[in-house]
Amino acid sequence: MVGRDPHLDVHLGPWARARGHQLIDGGAGEGWVVSRGQAGDRRWAGAVRAGSPTVDGIVASPPATWGLAARGALVEEGGPALASADLDGRVQVWTELAPKLYAQAAAGQWDPAKAIDWAALEGAVLPDDVEAAVVQVMTYLIENEQAALMVPARFLARIHPHFREVVQFLATQIADEARHVEVFTRRATSRGQPLGVSGAGGRASLQTLLQEPDWATASFLLSVLGEGTFLSLLAFIERFAPDPVTRQIAHLVLQDEARHVAFAMGHLREHLSAEPLLRDRLRAATERRHDALATTAGLSPAVHDSLVVLAAGSWAPADIAAGWRRTQDLVAEMDEGRRRRLVRLGFSDTEAESLSELHTRNFM
Ligand SMILES: [Fe+2]
Ligand SMILES: [Fe+2]
Repeated sequence: MVGRDPHLDVHLGPWARARGHQLIDGGAGEGWVVSRGQAGDRRWAGAVRAGSPTVDGIVASPPATWGLAARGALVEEGGPALASADLDGRVQVWTELAPKLYAQAAAGQWDPAKAIDWAALEGAVLPDDVEAAVVQVMTYLIENEQAALMVPARFLARIHPHFREVVQFLATQIADEARHVEVFTRRATSRGQPLGVSGAGGRASLQTLLQEPDWATASFLLSVLGEGTFLSLLAFIERFAPDPVTRQIAHLVLQDEARHVAFAMGHLREHLSAEPLLRDRLRAATERRHDALATTAGLSPAVHDSLVVLAAGSWAPADIAAGWRRTQDLVAEMDEGRRRRLVRLGFSDTEAESLSELHTRNFM
């Protein structure tokens, strides 16, 4: 490149130096010559492609040095390693269901203000003791939702961003739980009654979930056993809710929870097929959790009784008897659902039966 402007030396000199090029005085009115340097070529010499953007481009073990780069980007050598993302194995975190479940989750985000007909509460004033039962169930649900929000949040930033759809899915899962906390709180407080009790046993049970350091185990305990059990609970609340708002809430939350369970089943099935020994770890973790909680009360009697009243709809003896039966059926249905999921993860019928039995009495 040649130029003859007398100011080129002043302006072009620093520009060329900053880019590793050289500005040469051609002499005798020949002008200035920019001689291309090699810095640009050298800079990209060690660059690598971080897989490719589609799911076909996902690699088994993306290096930490790919860091935050987009999947498929040309990654310059020498950047910082993303050491905090230690969940970086395809076998550990990926499921082929992730892109589809993320798309469903993104499309299925509902607005608590619009998706629920809150005004319908005005036409459905419940007897005080039935309302108190609803409030107690909501109080219990809120603390469970808070645990369900915190567990994936603890792992989210540890997943290598190369597994983009998994990170995206977990972000929607956390947003779902935030909405669940909101709608249960709004229903609980809608009549101005004080919130219900929070039993120590229930909180101890949830605490064991928060303390679980292993991603596969946490996902198994929270989403397969806990949220799996909650599918039955939410279907029960939807079916027997004494007012239309509680029914709508349970319906919407149930759809979200079904997605959370499907995701965990997906990644654990793929993980287990590559690493069958993981099954022993999951079994041991369930037993350990059971032992740690053996001296706690599990489900608060206040919650159990409130489920009976909610399903009864009144304190008339015949209704309470029906509510009691429905609650017994619920517990049996929860157990059946857990066993079915455990068998789908490759546990034998006998193992599934004993593991389901060991699951926390607090349901989550
Ligand atoms: Fe939830
Ligand atoms: Fe959930």
